[in-house]
This record gives sequence, C-alpha cells and structure tokens, in this order.
Amino acid sequence: MTQKKVATLSFGDDRESVELPILSGSMGPDVIDIRTLHTQSGVFTYDPGFLSTASSSSEITFIDGGKGILLYRGYPIEQLAKQCDFMDVCYLLINGELPNKKEKVSFDKIIKDHSMLHEQLVRFFSGFRRDAHPMAVMVGVVGALSAFYHEAMDISDAGHRELSAFRLIAKLPTITAMAYKYNIGQPFVYPRNDLDYAENFLHMMFALPTEEYKPNPVMVRAIDRILILHADHEQNASTSTVRLAGSSGANPFACVSAGIACLWGPAHGGANEACLNMLEEIGSVSRIDEYIKRAKDKNDSFRLMGFGHRVYKNFDPRAQLMRETCHEVLNELGLHNDPLFELALELERIALEDEYFISKKLYPNVDYYSGIVQRALGIPTFMFTSIFAMARTVGWVAQWSEMISDPEHRIGRPRQRYTGKTVRNV
Ligand code: CMC
Repeated sequence: MTQKKVATLSFGDDRESVELPILSGSMGPDVIDIRTLHTQSGVFTYDPGFLSTASSSSEITFIDGGKGILLYRGYPIEQLAKQCDFMDVCYLLINGELPNKKEKVSFDKIIKDHSMLHEQLVRFFSGFRRDAHPMAVMVGVVGALSAFYHEAMDISDAGHRELSAFRLIAKLPTITAMAYKYNIGQPFVYPRNDLDYAENFLHMMFALPTEEYKPNPVMVRAIDRILILHADHEQNASTSTVRLAGSSGANPFACVSAGIACLWGPAHGGANEACLNMLEEIGSVSRIDEYIKRAKDKNDSFRLMGFGHRVYKNFDPRAQLMRETCHEVLNELGLHNDPLFELALELERIALEDEYFISKKLYPNVDYYSGIVQRALGIPTFMFTSIFAMARTVGWVAQWSEMISDPEHRIGRPRQRYTGKTVRNV
C-alpha cells in the first residue's frame, strides 16, 4: 500500500498543528489540499494573484514553465502545430483524443453547420458605434448568443453542453469577422462551407462582394497556427474567469463573454495589440535603446510589451513556433525590409542579449510574434485580441465543460484578508 503524503502546518502559538493531505497529479508539482484548513484551524490561505494556488484539477493542458513545455491532452504543442490543424486540436481539447478520419469529417461538418449567425443576431452589430473596439462588440454579441438557444441551455445535460461548445467554436470566426467588417464599414461576408476553418475566416475578413478572394496558403497556414497556439493555456486569467462565472451555473455564452472581457486586458490577450502599438511608438531602430532603458527603469511604468510571462521562465514554446511562422510569412510576402518588421526583429535581438532581460528571464512571448504575423497578413492591430479570443474559445468551452461534469465542482467563492475598519458606531 502506498503511504499517504501529508503536510503538517504548525502555528507557533497554542493552536494545534494541522495535517493536510498532499495530492499528486499525473505530472507537475504536488498540491496541498487545504479544503479543510479553515474548519480545522480557523485560518485562510492568502495568495493574491494565485502565485501558489491550483484552482482546480484538469486533464486538458499541462505547462512546465521552467522547461518551456506545453502539452494539450499530453501531446507536445510542437507536434500539434506541425502535424495537425486547428480542427484536430479543437476535437482533441474537447474529447481528449485526436480524431480518426471519420470523426474528423463528421466534426468538420458539425462545425460548418453551425457557422452562420441567427439573422436577428446579425442586427445586433448595428447597435454599436462604428468606432467601438471589436472586443467590446464581441463581449456583447457573444453574450447575446444566450438569448437565442433556450432549447439547449441545460448545463447539466452533456448533449446541451456539447452543442453549445460546437456553436461557440463555429460562430466565433463569423462574429470576429463581422466585428471587423462593421468597424470598417464593409458589408458582412457570410461563412462558406466549402472552405476550411482558417480559410473561411480569412474569406469572411477580406472578401468583398465585388471581386473574388483567394487566400494565400501561407496566410491560411499562419492563421491556423495562431489558432492552435492560442487554443488553451490551462488556468490563465480568462479561463479562470470562464470557470468562475460558470461555477454559478451561468450559461456558456455568458461565461465565454466574461472570458473575452478578461482577455481584453493588456497584461493578457491585449498584449499583441499593445506590442504593435509599442513598436509604432518606438518608430525606428535608432530609438530602441531609449525604450530598453525605460523598460529597465523602476520609476517608469513602461514595459516591453510581448516580453515576459507569469508561467514561462524559459522560452515560451509557442513563441518559438510563432517565430518560425513569422519568418515564413515575412519571406513569403517580401516584408523583411519593411521598417516596422525590421524594428521588431532588432528589438527582439537587443532584448535577448540584454543582461536585465536575461537575468529576469524575460523572453519574447507568443504575442510578440503573433502581433507581427497578423500585421504582415494585413490584419489591423485593433483586431489582434479578437483573433486571440476566437482561438481561445475552444479552450474556454473545454475547461467549462470539464468543470461542470466534475462531481466535485462547487461555486467558486474565494475568501479575503479583511484590512478595513473594525466595528464602529455611526
Ligand atoms: N518589460 C520590462 N520589465 C518586465 C517585463 C517587461 N515586459 N515583464 C516583467 N518585467 C520585470 C518586472 O518589472 C519585475 O521586475 P522586479 O523583479 O525588478 O520587480 C520582474 O520582471 C517580474 O515581473 P512581474 O510583473 O512580477 O511578473 P508577472 O509574472 O507578474 O507578470 C507579465 C507577467 C506577462 C504580466 C509581465 O511580464 C508583463 O507585463 N509583460 C508585458 C505584457 C505581455 O506581454 N503580456 C502577455 C503575456 S503572454 C499572453 C498570455 O498568455 O496571456
């Protein structure tokens, strides 16, 4: 019989020490199960920013930030990026296994069958100002999906959960592309079932009723890779938001809308947009030193956007793959000598050789390169985070569904360390 592992917590006062079970995962650090800590000892743990807290058990994604490892359902991201497409990855994240040929055909078809929006939902767009940020539009329109599918919103029904997941994965490219078309005042382009997911997305973004649009296969591959690399990232801020929202029993469209709102922040999915804005602000290779100095200055709030990561203290494996795509796209489109891309590559080189960035393990993250790739594809900066949201939707729904089907799941309700006034009279 294997010995049960426990951690003993002693208090240094007259309180009795507490024994807490240690649980192991299949990989990664053990966790101390503190669920009974408060009832046993009257104290809470304190961990703002969740630096040492596992909020859930999950079988979906594994990260070893020290070694730069990212696995979806056990498969290394490098293999998935090179040997699979985004539909394989969606199937894998949701079902736990890669699809065989028959399963893939049927999954592709289901997703295509759900790609159109209800025509009344299409009219929602005109309620927004033209200059609204597409992420603001997406928060609204995705949340509004809740109003359209009452017949399949019993979250305790696995079939309903699956159908909601299909709908979200299928409709997000349509919503994202419509948010773009609305912003630039072009007619909406409806999805086409003869095109693959990434190809169809480019079609909805760039086609016009007036002329035929044929996406370049390098561009299609680049979008597919962006989607794969952003599909899931275990318990990041937006995924934790989706889980927390979903823990109350809220419907999946509302939860994903909450995830989109969280992703929008510049410390999370907004980083690729912030990164391109930063490159534009720097403006020329001759000003890089000035900005590197600012990034290192404790009294200056400026940071190099697209550098650093909470979990990866080695190179972000997604960044390496995205870097490869970045060069492929710049070569294909003949953009290596474009001043903005020259600047980006020079900034990368200088920061990678700088002692401050090396000692703090601040490497370019996936958003550094994905911003450059998207710009090269002709996608405007203000759309970057929406494309991240479109990719992450599969991760959000997979994590949401895993949580709901876990018999141990309860409403998420963190506690606090109260630091306000003690009791007083009016
Ligand atoms: N430029 C300059 N200094 C930095 C940067 C940066 N980009 N990132 C971190 N630092 C410094 C920071 O000042 C701190 O220094 P010190 O130890 O002297 O106080 C140290 O490095 C550790 O930083 P931190 O803020 O404590 O680290 P964190 O884990 O809380 O933050 C981060 C991680 C990603 C929010 C942060 O690195 C950052 O703001 N990066 C820029 C924004 C960005 O690119 N975000 C995208 C993240 S990847 C996409 C995703 O997965 O969502």
